[in-house]
Amino acid sequence: MCGIVGYVGNRRAAPILLEGLKRLEYRGYDSAGVAVLNDGISIVRKKGRVSALKEAEGMGGTIGIGHTRWATHGAPSEQNAHPHLYGRFAVVHNGIIENYLALKEECLHRGETFSSETDSEVIAHLLNYSYRGDVLAALRETTARLKGSFALAVLCRDEPDRLFLAREKSPLVVGRGEDGTYAASDVPAIAEKCDKIYSLSDGELAVLDRKEIKFFDRVGTIEKRELAIDRSADIPQLCGFSHYMRKEMEEIPAAIANSLIDFATDFRFSAFCEVLCQTKYMDIVACGTAYHSGIAAKHAVEKLARVPVSVHIASEYRYGDPIVKPATLVLAVSQSGETADTLAAAELAKSRGAYVAAVTNAPYSSLTRIADFVLETGAGREIAVAATKSFNAQLAILYSIAVASARAKGKDVLFDSLRPLPALAEQVVSKIGDAEALSADLVRARSVYFIGRGADYCAALEGSLKLKEISYLPSEGYPAGELKHGTLALIERGTPVVAVVTQRATAEKTMNAVSEVCARGASVLLVSSFPELARRKEIAHFIPIPKCEECFSPILSVIPLQALAYFTSLARGNDPDKPRNLAKSVTVE
Ligand code: G6P
Repeated sequence: MCGIVGYVGNRRAAPILLEGLKRLEYRGYDSAGVAVLNDGISIVRKKGRVSALKEAEGMGGTIGIGHTRWATHGAPSEQNAHPHLYGRFAVVHNGIIENYLALKEECLHRGETFSSETDSEVIAHLLNYSYRGDVLAALRETTARLKGSFALAVLCRDEPDRLFLAREKSPLVVGRGEDGTYAASDVPAIAEKCDKIYSLSDGELAVLDRKEIKFFDRVGTIEKRELAIDRSADIPQLCGFSHYMRKEMEEIPAAIANSLIDFATDFRFSAFCEVLCQTKYMDIVACGTAYHSGIAAKHAVEKLARVPVSVHIASEYRYGDPIVKPATLVLAVSQSGETADTLAAAELAKSRGAYVAAVTNAPYSSLTRIADFVLETGAGREIAVAATKSFNAQLAILYSIAVASARAKGKDVLFDSLRPLPALAEQVVSKIGDAEALSADLVRARSVYFIGRGADYCAALEGSLKLKEISYLPSEGYPAGELKHGTLALIERGTPVVAVVTQRATAEKTMNAVSEVCARGASVLLVSSFPELARRKEIAHFIPIPKCEECFSPILSVIPLQALAYFTSLARGNDPDKPRNLAKSVTVE
């Protein structure tokens, strides 16, 4: 949520900042701005995307900061865009300052005036007030007063060669390259430029000059370990695709193959397997798409291992006073590893005695620092805001855990049942284009319903979320058997209903629901691994998917639903990679 960049070096800062911001736009794109220090601080800010900052390209100066915003406090507008300038200081901020009203009150009392409605502007005011010739001291004093979350990059008029940074619960990385030093919310913004990268932890500060980076905590200097980066993976490229979402769907088979783990033979995970042997309960905490992975995992773990699993929306769990029974393993599932609610839920579970395993696509993320075990999904970087391949990759690891957990409980379940999944996914991905014609039914719909039972219900939930996120159509994922307790009232002539049927035991039950919606005029698209169902008269459109072990089927059945959402989004004239109001990495509550 919000992307920040900073640079100090020998080259002109503005083009470097703009390029970095483009790579961070997945974090928010309501407004953007840059500040450059060159005989005083100059600022260009605009409502809208980073591309609106054209006039900043020519700015002189070799030190600067930039920001792409996802609005929390104050509407998306030029006035509320960062950087915020007050007195000697310009500041960009990612996070939320929860006590900003009290702090602002104090500043107003001193006679200061504010030019935005944001929580962030107060930081520039506090810095200016605390400053007595030492920016680091002012930054320490200011950050000590802030409650909430922040990653900050600060320019001071009196310091033409130094950039100041601070982190508390919002990600921040820094790096050193040939032409200077760099800061950003995430690695891709600076990967190309840096040979050494460091990640700040909570409570840490950094001071960058043209050559060096110095790290501090609240009392003194500290040393930090550099991180290895895989440049090819960290620099996103469209590779001829029109959108990242389309490219990322093509990468699903590889994401699955790279994420399956045979825990029985992979000795990197022997300590984790020991914990699985002792585990009597599993809790899964996650948000959004990752929450749906958790629901899918529950079906597989309970079916194969008979270990009870509860799945929790992280924002509910963290404030819900959860009961963590002895011998509970908590799986915190998060693509980014930075989702604020998932981090808080994982911390709470740990403080209540659970082992915590992070299932994440981001090896250096905050979640990995909280967790006892890190299970890294091999999806590769995902840029489109709507998750696709990362979901399939999460399922691959979670299903691997289901198999390992079953084996830990002495059941005869083999990893072999997972091996065919990448090739089967390849078959489904090769037909993604078929969804384009089917999206015509959805484009003008007032609302769309997705139904299924058991594991199919989980695919329905994720299919519905995808459609909602990028087409802006009202949509609901519903258990097929529950329809008649309310949602059936919403079905009218022509309402599109997408039914997912891959579970033999409940197939006919879901087909009953299909008959019921058809009787009320719905137009049904069936996604199923039972080709014989295509002949039923109620079915307007049919998408076949290959058979696999039934409890793993969402990993395949979700793919046409992701494609349907993608083509519907395009047909409605939207940008599927950057849905309105959303951001990929939700680092605020
Ligand atoms: C945002 C993204 C979703 C994602 C969710 C959880 O809402 O737009 O695609 O599923 O956050 O993110 P995480 O990184 O924790 O998986």
